[in-house]
Amino acid sequence: MSGGVVVLGSVNVDLVLRCAALPQPGQTVHGQDFQTLPGGKGANQAVAAARLGAPVAFIGCVGDDDFGRTARAVLAAEGIDTTHLHTMAGTPTGVAMILVDGAGQNCIALAAGANALLDTAQVDAAAALIEGAALFVCQLESPLAVVRHAIAIAHAAGVPVLLNPAPAQALPADVLAQVDVLVPNETEAAVLAAWPDGTPFDAAVAAGRLRALGPRTVIVTLGADGAYVAADGLARHVPAPTAARVVDTTGAGDTFIGAYAAARCEGADLARAVAYAQRAASLSVTRAGATGGMPRRDELGSP
Ligand code: ATP
Ligand code: RIB
Repeated sequence: MSGGVVVLGSVNVDLVLRCAALPQPGQTVHGQDFQTLPGGKGANQAVAAARLGAPVAFIGCVGDDDFGRTARAVLAAEGIDTTHLHTMAGTPTGVAMILVDGAGQNCIALAAGANALLDTAQVDAAAALIEGAALFVCQLESPLAVVRHAIAIAHAAGVPVLLNPAPAQALPADVLAQVDVLVPNETEAAVLAAWPDGTPFDAAVAAGRLRALGPRTVIVTLGADGAYVAADGLARHVPAPTAARVVDTTGAGDTFIGAYAAARCEGADLARAVAYAQRAASLSVTRAGATGGMPRRDELGSP
């Protein structure tokens, strides 16, 4: 595959339990509707882009277990090229324990499993794939050194790099300097912009600070409030369409990124791609599961 979206990232199995309210430390609550679902930020973003018609290839690792075999089959069934999805012997597939409350909000604890074993040799084996991409997409559920290596390959080849800096962590300056499109949520933007604790967050100011670190385009996602977009000649808040009913926000950011990537790959400009991503993400929160709510092309239409 060349000219499409190449995603490097995590594959998880999501163990999801719904409960009326999220438990406090030391508290036990009753849950319901336990489900085992496909997840992982990398896999989710790949699925979101593929469902909207983009050619997608994936680079990552699963364990040599039933979860890993299922995850591989799920990605393949979505039409994603899994040539560079590695099965790591003797290691479990990544797991995300997810609690979702009655308002659709979640909290998540991760066990990286095989995701932690992705290495630079595997990335080197996929170098030609990365160098031929229209857009390279990555997140931070894979080892930072490996993400950094892959970003350097894409950047050196002139391939635009989209980084979703999730889960939140501080990053070396050279990583941000090679990123073209940074898509953090509010928490991640606050960490990267060294936003002072206790000070009200201002997405416009944070986006400006982040642009000064390298990325020409910064899109801060703001949940139900939409997103703030800052780029050359563009700085504005873009509201999200109102969701009819919020069932589960898990994967909303992943849907946004996958839809944005698909739209850009198809030639949409920044504003149209962000609008498309908002439509996709606001729809995704009305349905359960990280990928369960992701729309398909026949539902969402063209960017
Ligand atoms: P997650 O980690 O759960 O995938 P996130 O924190 O990365 O999500 P958010 O900023 O919460 O990302 O949401 C991403 C996008 O999803 C928003 O920009 C918006 O388009 C859409 N979205 C999220 N929550 C809602 C909501 N309650 N109503 C409508 N749209 C929403
Ligand atoms: O962004 C949502 C994802 O984060 C979930 O699917 C879970 O696997 C965690 O990685």
